Amino acid sequence: MNLNAARKRIDELRQLLDEHSHRYYVLDAPSISDEEYDRLFRELTQLEGQFPELTAPDSPTARVGGAPLEGFDKVVHARPMLSLQNAFDHQELRAFDERVRRFLGNEGPIRYAVEPKIDGLAVQVSYSGRLFTIGATRGDGLIGEDVTQNLRTIRGLPLRLPDSAPDELRVRGEVYLSKRDFAGLNQAKEEAGEKTFANPRNAAAGSVRQLDPQIAAARPLRIVFYAPGGADRSAGGQCAFLELLRNYRLPTHAGSLAQCCEGIEQTIDAVRWIEQQRRELPFDIDGAVVKVDDFELQGRLGATAHHPRWAIAVKFKAQKAQTRVNAIEVQVGRTGALTPVAKLDPAAVGGVTIRSASLHNQDEIDRLDVREGDQVLIQRAGDVIPEILEVLVDQRDGSERKFSIPERHRACPACGSAVVRAPGDAAYRCVGLACPAKLAESLKHFASKGCMNIEGLGDKLIDQLVERGLVHSPADLYDLGEAAWAELDRMGLKSARNIVEALERGKHVSLNRLLAALGIRMVGETVAELLARRYRTLDGLLGAQYDELTAIDGVGPKVARSIVDFFSDAANREVIGRLLDHGVEPQPLAQIEQGVFADQSVVLTGELESMTRAEAKERIKSAGGRVSGSVSSKTDLVVAGPGAGSKLSKAQKLGVKVIDEQRFLEMLEHG
Ligand code: IVH
Repeated sequence: MNLNAARKRIDELRQLLDEHSHRYYVLDAPSISDEEYDRLFRELTQLEGQFPELTAPDSPTARVGGAPLEGFDKVVHARPMLSLQNAFDHQELRAFDERVRRFLGNEGPIRYAVEPKIDGLAVQVSYSGRLFTIGATRGDGLIGEDVTQNLRTIRGLPLRLPDSAPDELRVRGEVYLSKRDFAGLNQAKEEAGEKTFANPRNAAAGSVRQLDPQIAAARPLRIVFYAPGGADRSAGGQCAFLELLRNYRLPTHAGSLAQCCEGIEQTIDAVRWIEQQRRELPFDIDGAVVKVDDFELQGRLGATAHHPRWAIAVKFKAQKAQTRVNAIEVQVGRTGALTPVAKLDPAAVGGVTIRSASLHNQDEIDRLDVREGDQVLIQRAGDVIPEILEVLVDQRDGSERKFSIPERHRACPACGSAVVRAPGDAAYRCVGLACPAKLAESLKHFASKGCMNIEGLGDKLIDQLVERGLVHSPADLYDLGEAAWAELDRMGLKSARNIVEALERGKHVSLNRLLAALGIRMVGETVAELLARRYRTLDGLLGAQYDELTAIDGVGPKVARSIVDFFSDAANREVIGRLLDHGVEPQPLAQIEQGVFADQSVVLTGELESMTRAEAKERIKSAGGRVSGSVSSKTDLVVAGPGAGSKLSKAQKLGVKVIDEQRFLEMLEHG
């Protein structure tokens, strides 16, 4: 592709990706799948890699998060970010209206803007030359923290404003998580044995105030804007201001929620309406904000040191209820975490009937001292997830029974494997590799890119395999023939053949990747590599002792314990034995270090017939090489296929060695 064609396609891709992010994060109406989005994103990343001169600060690829920071810089707010006064019922709201009118000299009915109040993290965002430049937290209202890097990762935040927007713009808004994303995040944390967030507010604040932008980038943060940050009052009033923001494609509350009302009674109706919507809304709110619409009147009303006199927050009641814990049951999650769940007498909280609440882990049971038979107070964390707030200890009659997981479950309730709790881990976990409760998830991990990298074996396919009972461990994948794969939904003979071939090719993985693929707790890529270096073969590792493992630099006692537990489990040993019987032949790292491409920088260009690009990269890496996107004087070798373009000519100009696919295959085979 030449520079002009690349520029055209890059522009196209950026527009497409921006549009889809907007649809997903702002309009909540995605029109393509996540996979399709990822595909477009990868294409853009690849093109920008090939044509570095075409990278841009407002490209969607600029959202991935930069290097970790030492600390946040301070930002002094030109105008303080104030708090709001509160009203706890409609009477107090009427009193606010009277104060406003009295202050203004008994003006007639006031026009108010009414909006939902999301409980998230307040931020101010600045655009300069229509480009996103600075994002800051509210801090103490006068001085906030520079969280530009983290806000940049929020896909609903435009990095560039349309030409209709003013050159300079400052807006204030709230960073938050949707109810669904909050629940998903906590579930993932729980399964990883990490501490969960108490509510969406903490989750949003914790994500934005992360020094490592990669973490913020991985969280599905959203943003909504509701107030001017600068002194520009040209919109005239709040309702018109929100309309302007919408035109600039900045996310705001939907028009059906952010209403413009004449007089206080209409305003109260709008507040009521928002409260009625509360349950259906995709995000958590804790009230409504009522603002005098007219900016000129706002200016006359002014502010105290704490809050503006022209706005007030109407707080909704927390939704709580009392009920009884009938029993505590243990469920097995994806990563084998045994999760205790309180089974409750059905109770209505905020219009929803609650029958159970997760107790997360033994620590939480101990902290609450909750017992079977207890009367408890429950609420829905962030309006969504039922949780036990406190035990009503004075209502005990002595018949309550204490609960402890290992007493009830010495073995996994789903598969009977051993149950262990590593030091520092909040959860008891089943160590069984073939445990059905966590089977699908461990298979997805096994097949994933960083592990066995089995192309074509996606999540949906794996769910089908597990649902139909076709597969009980990773080893079973290798038992299925083309015909069996072809019978699955949305599979044809061709895709079936591709999967069987992908499985076949994957048999030569490096030992470290196989180790990572097994999903041993606390053994990620890094530890897997340490182990592969120390042991070289799987056999060596199978017999490793605890003391031997802790002697490895980078392997602590917890990790060593987890490895020993894993390999001493009979079911796990059987699965590993079967993988080896199927011809899985992990390659020692030493072989990689002495591989045919050891320490060489290799560039691929043009098409390959016998494998995909991803596989070629993988093969080069497992033969010790590095794959680079562009040719330079540091390139050692270029593999060129049909359609090779500028990279080939550049290689020839620089005198870099060029080989064709045939020779490439020979080198891979014979070294
Ligand atoms: S206006 C000077 N509008 O509530 C008034 N605030 O308790 C600026 N909040 O710090 C705030 N939704 O973080 C406004 N629609 C909304 C809001 C909102 C949530 C937050 C904001 C503020 C806090 C005050």
